[in-house]
Amino acid sequence: MIRLAIRCRAELADRVLTDLLELVPGGVEEERGGAWVEYAIYGPPGEIPSLPELEAAAGDGLVEISTTEIPDDWADRWRDFHEPVSIAGGRIVVRPSWEDGAAVDDAVDIVIEPGQAFGTGAHATTRMCLELLLALADAGEASGPLADLGTGSGVLAIAAAKLGFAPVSGCDSEPAALEAAAANSAANGVELELHRVNLREQAPPCARALVANLTAPLLEATAARIAVPPRVLICSGLLASEAERVRAALARAGIEPVAERSRGEWGALLCRAR
Ligand SMILES: C[S@@+](CC[C@H](N)C(=O)[O-])C[C@H]1O[C@@H](n2cnc3c(N)ncnc32)[C@H](O)[C@@H]1O
Repeated sequence: MIRLAIRCRAELADRVLTDLLELVPGGVEEERGGAWVEYAIYGPPGEIPSLPELEAAAGDGLVEISTTEIPDDWADRWRDFHEPVSIAGGRIVVRPSWEDGAAVDDAVDIVIEPGQAFGTGAHATTRMCLELLLALADAGEASGPLADLGTGSGVLAIAAAKLGFAPVSGCDSEPAALEAAAANSAANGVELELHRVNLREQAPPCARALVANLTAPLLEATAARIAVPPRVLICSGLLASEAERVRAALARAGIEPVAERSRGEWGALLCRAR
């Protein structure tokens, strides 16, 4: 097993992470120093991205790339990095199967097996989507069909189904993500319709509610292909500095933001059809 560490400049780390996650949707380990952030990828030789791919992803944020062979306890190390994630004071808990269930009564308890696809619940962009889904549920709007664009591990689709949306579908361009979402939906006892869709080239599925935790360029491309504006759209994955571009693309699709959130450099929008 190889540990490949990409150390980058702290001020460019969010940008590097976005590009790395396109290469490694399974997620990365993160370690912070003073002026640097290190992202590490684990995998067998031949199944990890090549150095040129990583250098291109890190761009001018790159400090250094190093490779270490790690012994057989890697699975335990991987587990150490995945603790339960608590949203809105524990009203939603996303946890790996080896951690105990939610402590708060009536909490939405979501079990996600980490490591196969993006979406352990820990990333700021995922957390903001979960908070906004909860806000819709609190407003009595968690019903009817919902489509999760770029479903990854299926975490948002599973949360939506547990909050009351139905039917819930998820799409992703990565077969590994769809496999992970199928396994996770079964582990959570919810039904998801899963489709392989490349949102760079294909229209997103139609639904009255959409949730899309994607990068800003992909959000823009997706907005351009929305035929019928959804009643409600949650989008995340944009850097705060990219919000204007995404707003403009949404406006062209007849969709307008009605609330926004930010965490660190990341932004999320709750939008409605105009
Ligand atoms: C940031 S992750 C979001 C995962 C999960 N929904 C969450 O919120 O944690 C983005 C997902 O979009 C998928 N994706 C990337 N490019 C895509 C494309 N062109 N078409 C469809 N899905 C894509 C990735 O495979 C990844 O699973």
